[in-house]
Amino acid sequence: MWIAACKEDDVEPDDVIGFAHDGVDYAIFRSPDDEYYATAGHCTHERELLCDGLVMDGEIECPRHLGRFNYATGRAQGAPVLVDLRTYPVKIEDGIVYLDVS
Ligand code: FES
Repeated sequence: MWIAACKEDDVEPDDVIGFAHDGVDYAIFRSPDDEYYATAGHCTHERELLCDGLVMDGEIECPRHLGRFNYATGRAQGAPVLVDLRTYPVKIEDGIVYLDVS
């Protein structure tokens, strides 16, 4: 099920925003070359919100214990984060970012 999450320009290049739908939090990323990605909104370690973290070099750094994930694949990059993030398909239509949350 595709849902409209935000406008393309709501996310700065090399940054992240949070988005909530139906009680579920998501994180939406824009890479430096304007590709969009979406992951679960909470860290798999202790559920910190990732949209408050730091984006750099294709990774999101959790603000609580500085665990890192690859935001394109969801892959946990090492302790303290050991469980990968769920990722969601993204498409852009008419300047709107859609997530497939099926
Ligand atoms: S809550 Fe994210 S690294 Fe601990």
